[in-house]
Amino acid sequence: MDHATTNYLTHCGGCHGIEGASPRTFVPLLRDHVGTFDCSAEGRAYLVRVPGVSMSLIRDDQELADVMNFVLFRLGRSSTPAGAKPFTAEEVHTLRAQPLTTTDLLKLRAEVLSRAAAQCPR
Ligand code: HEC
Repeated sequence: MDHATTNYLTHCGGCHGIEGASPRTFVPLLRDHVGTFDCSAEGRAYLVRVPGVSMSLIRDDQELADVMNFVLFRLGRSSTPAGAKPFTAEEVHTLRAQPLTTTDLLKLRAEVLSRAAAQCPR
């Protein structure tokens, strides 16, 4: 297993599940779903600004970028738009400095997701 996979299992898998299919229903399914967010700039930013990511104990930006690329490409699979760009350390650094502050995360999530889905090429 590579380092990004190990990091994912250690820091994210407890909630999101080993293969991105979460055992608990209130945690979003990543596998075959998460890539839809990447269809809009707002959605892509959301992926890093959610508390579980922006506040992650993975403090190294490159390591977190690697984990996010594991999430986007290995878990997102067919949901991830063709031509999606990998996250860079710089991008992660900028986005995680702007953690989401809404008190209604699920409402925001639904809005961001529907705006992103509307922009997906298909
Ligand atoms: C304590 C449980 C928990 C941990 C740990 C956690 N997450 Fe999450 N994650 C959630 C929940 C719950 C949401 C839904 C939005 C919210 O309420 O924050 C979420 C949302 C997300 C999203 C947005 C996807 C969507 O459909 O909304 C991504 C991407 C994500 N998490 C990735 C990660 C990664 C990568 C890690 C590890 C660095 C991680 N999460 C750690 C619980 C967790």
